[in-house]
Amino acid sequence: MTQQSQWQKHFVHAGNGGADQLEAALLKSAQVIKSVFEQVDKPYSGMDPLELKAKIEAINMQGGDALDKVIEETGELIGLNSIIVQHPHCIAHLHTQPLMPSLAAEVFISVLNQSMDSWDQASAATYVEQRMVDWLCELYNFGEHSDGVFTAGGTQSNQMGLIIARDWIADTLSGHNIQQDGLPDYGRKLRIICSQKSHFTVQKTAALMGLGMRAVVCVESRANGTMITEKLEETIDALKADGLIPFVVVGTAGTTDHGAIDDLNAIADIAAKNAMWFHVDAAYGGALIMSSEKARLAGLERADSLTVDFHKLYWQPISCGGFLLKNKANFKYLLHHADYLNREEDTLPNLVDKTMATTKRFDALKLLMTMQNIGPDVMGEMYDHLLQQTRDVAAMVDANENYELLSEPNLSTVLFRFNNGKLADVDAMNKKLRLQALVQGVAVLGETTVNGQTSLKFTLLNPCLTLNHFEELLDNLTKLADSLA
Ligand SMILES: Cc1ncc(COP(=O)(O)O)c(C=O)c1O
Repeated sequence: MTQQSQWQKHFVHAGNGGADQLEAALLKSAQVIKSVFEQVDKPYSGMDPLELKAKIEAINMQGGDALDKVIEETGELIGLNSIIVQHPHCIAHLHTQPLMPSLAAEVFISVLNQSMDSWDQASAATYVEQRMVDWLCELYNFGEHSDGVFTAGGTQSNQMGLIIARDWIADTLSGHNIQQDGLPDYGRKLRIICSQKSHFTVQKTAALMGLGMRAVVCVESRANGTMITEKLEETIDALKADGLIPFVVVGTAGTTDHGAIDDLNAIADIAAKNAMWFHVDAAYGGALIMSSEKARLAGLERADSLTVDFHKLYWQPISCGGFLLKNKANFKYLLHHADYLNREEDTLPNLVDKTMATTKRFDALKLLMTMQNIGPDVMGEMYDHLLQQTRDVAAMVDANENYELLSEPNLSTVLFRFNNGKLADVDAMNKKLRLQALVQGVAVLGETTVNGQTSLKFTLLNPCLTLNHFEELLDNLTKLADSLA
């Protein structure tokens, strides 16, 4: 047997029988995953983290194991000791259980392995992504000059919005080309404005952009997590009076902890008055556009750039994000022609013209297949249900004498803590409770800080849960807390 014929079985081939090995591997994987889900009854197995680490370090990586065995062992060690996002008591983060059509799509995405940078690597895929982007521009009422791309997630989308805004301001103020010449001499005066509750990727992006985290000025938020827009005006005026250049304001539609949706119309007015770029981070709340509460996003359509994140409330597998631009001409700030990839004279579209990434996954397919199979109306009904259930759960927590509700819910998070009135150190107890609940496999809970107090957090993303699941969860937590006290 030649080496080539031995290697054949490791790949899919065009032609008759070329995908037989794939079919077998997928069937085996499906059986093993099915068995994992039939066995799991906790959000985490409860295996000691050090034991898990040691077992993973001991995995043979020298080859030679049959693929069936590898798949079985993956189920046994990795599957069974994963964080089970489908479990009702896995409720910490914006970390979702993926929808069925998106899982089917993942097989096509991986096996076809289209790379979205150029048409000659992504023929049908390029048109699918563009179709989904056009659909999103319409869904968010972004207007006829808008366009967008799929991204790796909210972080990358926020980076794109802020980088384009930075290059736009230098171009607008002085015709300076940051792409070519780097930061202008007034670069140290540039300021990004967001709220205290904006996502930390704003600060991280400022650092990456060469402006530094100190270039980010945070406007005070209300107790419910929304930006105090009167303070936004004051902040901009004060910065200008100091000779600084506030050039972009970031509004948030769904802050990570409070789920707070800023008054986007008020921010849009202030941005327009001050000739600033308006970026909206709707990574969390953007999905509300399909719900009956979509009016809460009013003003979002006035953004110059928009972050949406499909691996959150759109229930897509990681990774899957989106970035929209009101005026597609501004993609010029990311454009670079490479002789081997996207020549200036190309007539077929190369999506790399609009991206920060080069090689890029065909994630648009999962959103397309989701919309074909489930569609915006049913998704909207599921969001309506989640929003109502979050209010019901918050009321349940509030009514429980062992717990303290720390903030009224806005979207689908509940901020609360264990406090039965008998604790010497409530913060320490809640930190311990979160960690022990995780490692013992009782519940995967969020932990954050609300008004200086340690808070636990439920992030409701699973529309299939009932209030009984939450009653049981609170009971289990109370028992655990009592045992830890
Ligand atoms: C409001 C907000 N923006 C941006 C992000 C970053 O998104 P990603 O994790 O997809 O990069 C998050 C993540 O939770 C978020 O909550």
